[in-house]
Order: sequence, then structure tokens, then C-alpha cells
Amino acid sequence: MDIELRGITKRFGSVVANSDVNLKIRAGEVLGLLGENGAGKTTLMNVLSGLYRPDEGEILIDGKPVQFRGAGDAIRAGIGMVHQHFMLVPVFTVAENVVLGVEPVKALDRLDMKTARKQVRAISTEHGLEVDPDAIIEEIPVGLQQRVEIIKVLFRSANAIIFDEPTAVLTPQEVVEFFGIVRSLREAGKALVFITHKLGEVLEVADRISVLRGGRIVGEGDPRTATTADLAEMMVGRPVRFAIEKRKTKPGGPLLEVKGLTVLNERDEVALRGIDLTVHEGEIVGVAGVQGNGQTELVEALTGLRRVAAGTVTFAGADITHASARERHRRLIAHIPEDRQRSGLISEFSVAENAVLDRYYAPPFSSGIAMRWPEVDAEATRIVKDFDVRTASIRTHAGNLSGGNQQKLVVGRELGHDTKFLIAAQPTRGIDVGSIEYIHERIAHARDEGDGILIVSTELDEVMSMSDRILVMYRGKIVAEFEGGKATVKDVGLAMAGVVS
Ligand SMILES: Nc1ncnc2c1ncn2[C@@H]1O[C@H](COP(=O)(O)OP(=O)(O)O)[C@@H](O)[C@H]1O
Ligand SMILES: [Mg+2]
Repeated sequence: MDIELRGITKRFGSVVANSDVNLKIRAGEVLGLLGENGAGKTTLMNVLSGLYRPDEGEILIDGKPVQFRGAGDAIRAGIGMVHQHFMLVPVFTVAENVVLGVEPVKALDRLDMKTARKQVRAISTEHGLEVDPDAIIEEIPVGLQQRVEIIKVLFRSANAIIFDEPTAVLTPQEVVEFFGIVRSLREAGKALVFITHKLGEVLEVADRISVLRGGRIVGEGDPRTATTADLAEMMVGRPVRFAIEKRKTKPGGPLLEVKGLTVLNERDEVALRGIDLTVHEGEIVGVAGVQGNGQTELVEALTGLRRVAAGTVTFAGADITHASARERHRRLIAHIPEDRQRSGLISEFSVAENAVLDRYYAPPFSSGIAMRWPEVDAEATRIVKDFDVRTASIRTHAGNLSGGNQQKLVVGRELGHDTKFLIAAQPTRGIDVGSIEYIHERIAHARDEGDGILIVSTELDEVMSMSDRILVMYRGKIVAEFEGGKATVKDVGLAMAGVVS
């Protein structure tokens, strides 16, 4: 099946999400659709999968114009989409989710689950999509849930499959497996669209590359000849520096001092086993490690979100071991949380409200009785400008911003006023290169101004490029320490696996 998009334009109010987009998607090929957050990738693919109707332009399948009145029409035409946020029913099994909503199946209790399981197995085997048909969705890892979404579209006989940022939720090992699946689907003659903002990935798996910026196709690339620098420049609209130039620093005195920190997790197991660490003024300390080795608990303990079982935390000479999150904020400790959707922003609140979320109760934003809206708006406008948050207005709901812009808003709120310390947890997870570079610059800038910074990240590249000192966590302990700029990926990687010389 070959698909052509001709002159597609899609507007949301005054935002032009797609502007005169022309694109060809061919059977047996992987089209890499590359673009920053907010470039219009999801919107374009929602148009193709029948969720949105374009304001202008047309879709042709095998040369014939088609019109979709809903997702059902697109599915019947053979177009399936694996969304960025999965649309599975958590309490149902894999097989139940796969067949759900397919005619002539009307209700689960009347469903021939035996046949369903068999079909799921057949599809799994054909494309290396191993997954237990009887497993409950909420009990399997995200990587497997994604496979269920793929099986689901294949079960509906899709000839074209769109993957919206599929690798954002995968571990490096799962990405390798995912690429194997994509190649198998290509082999089977499917027309595939792979959406990403990761340059290396698109170079590895795509046959052709189209770059979207500001809703327009701004360039095309051939993966055999294109370089990451070329693609990044097309994507961001200016040359991108991959390694930030850091000034040499002279760290000052100790600012954050942690001694013997012991913390339990939800199941009352020891998550941190007597950690010692110090961060000085004007120093970035990076904590590397594989996810799940106590990093989340460390950040929670340091930000006042998790009770400390033993040990002490001292900040600028004061004991803050048991201080509340708000109290820490008052001491000018900023926090970029790991999950911006859950603890960083309130989606239903406006950009303006989110900009003062941590300070709304104090002057100048509150008189003590009522909010002072002009002050709030002025602050929000300043943050949006200073931190390059792309939003239609400060009244827009934060939930409508792209991931990169949501994160810039969080960073702006946290660093956009007087701070002494920053705790940044996965500060660039799931966001595009342009925003990553920008956020790294802002963090480095805060360090240059004398802040102490603790970056906790599972992205080894990020820890290596940003840190003046690197600590490695393994099973709730700090097992190694390296000087930034001198550590090798190999040594830090080995320490992450618990191998310390
Ligand atoms: N439902 C919507 N209402 C209003 N604006 C939207 C909506 N969906 C997307 N947008 C806006 O359209 C632009 C493109 O968004 P999107 O297609 O999600 O980009 P991408 O997937 O490339 O990150 C952004 O500016 C975004 O804020
Ligand atoms: Mg998107």
C-alpha cells in the first residue's frame, strides 16, 4: 500500500500545526519522520489515521483520494497507529485488548477467547513480537505493552503502521528488539512511519527521512549519506552543538552534605544504604546508574518527599533531614522532578498558574488573602520569554504544550528566580535535541552563578557531558566516583553494572 499526503494543513485556533505538508509513504519502506517537540508530527499522523480532519489537503491511497470520518475509516483502509500514550485497558489480558472493539466481536463475554489467543500467538511468532496472550496489561513492562499495541494493529490487518515516538519508553536493549520488529514488518511489505526526535535512531532504521519543523516539511535526508549534524540543523533550524562548552569551574565550599542516608522504599525494603555525598557551591555532581538502583528514592529523600530512616542531610550548615518540601524550597533548593506530568505540572492549569505553582502562596503572587493575577501574569510572561517556552499564550493549559516546552516551563519555574541549589532528576527525558541543549545550558549557567547542582540521570551521555564529578549508584549505594572529563564510558558503565576495580 502506498500513501500520499498532499498539501495537508491543520490548524488549532491560531496555531498552525501542519502547513501544506506533502509526504509519500511506500510499501516495504520505513519513512523516518523527524522533528522537535511541537513540530506537528503527531498531528500529521492523527490526520492520516483519521483522528483529525485536515483543514486543507488530501490523502491518497494507491493513487485514489480517500476521506476519513474517524479512526474506524482509516483502520478499514488499512492504516494503523501505535500511539505515544498507549490506549490499552490495564485490567484486561493481552488477548482481550487485541480483539477489543473488532467486529463481529460485540462483548467480551461472547468472545471466542480461544481463537483470539491463537491468532495473537500467530501474529507474535510471525514478527518476533513475543508476549503472553494471557498476561494482564498492567502487570507487564512498557516494552511488552507496546508489542500488544503493534499486535493490535496487525490483528486489524493494517498495511501501513505509524509509530509515534515508540522508542521514548524503551530501554536501549528494548530499542534493539523494536528495530528487529520494524525490519520484520518492512520485510512483510508494510508501509511504515517511524516518528522520532532521535537522530541516531532514524539513521539506523529508516529508508528515507523527512524533517518537520514548525508544521512544515523543511528537508529530506538519505540515511546512507546524511549526518547527525545536518539533520539536527534541519530539525532545529540552526546549527546544534552537541557538547556544551563548559567553563572550568572552581567549586566553593560544601553546600549539600549527606551522611549515612538510609531510606526505605514502598515495600519497606532498604532502598538507600547509608549514602554519603557532598555537593559544593558552583559544582555539578552527576549521579549515574541503571534505573531502579535507588536514584528515585535519593531524589525524593533530598527533596523532602520521602522519610529518612537514618542519617543526616545538611544544607548550607542547617540540618534539613526532616524538613518539608516547601521548607526546602524556601531555602532556595529547586527541583526538576523526574515525572513532569505527575509532579512537575498540572495539565489542566494554565501556563501562568504553573509558572508560580511553587510560590503562589507567598508575595508577590499572593496578598495573603487573594492571588495577585497581574504579578502572576508578569512572572509567567518573563519565564516564557527567558526560557523559550513555545506556547500560544500564558492562558493555554500546560497539558497542551509539547513535552520539550513543558520541561522548559518546569526548568523556567525552578531556575527563573533566585536559587542556591538544583536537584535535577532525568531533566531531559523524552525531549528533543534542541530543548535538551537549551536545558543543559541553563543548568550549566546556574552552576556558573555559584549554585550547587545534583543531576540524577539514567542517560549516561548526559551525566558524562554535564558533570564536574560523577557518582555511580548500584543497589542503593554509591559504588564509584570519577572526576568529570576524565572518566571513560567504559569505566562508568562497568560501575553501573556493579563492577568496580
Ligand atoms: N488538540 C490540540 N489543541 C491545540 N493545539 C494543539 C493540539 N494538538 C497539538 N497542538 C499544537 O500543535 C502543535 C504541534 O503539536 P504536535 O503535533 O503534538 O507536535 P509533535 O508531535 O511534533 O511534538 C503544537 O504547537 C501543539 O501545541
Ligand atoms: Mg508528538
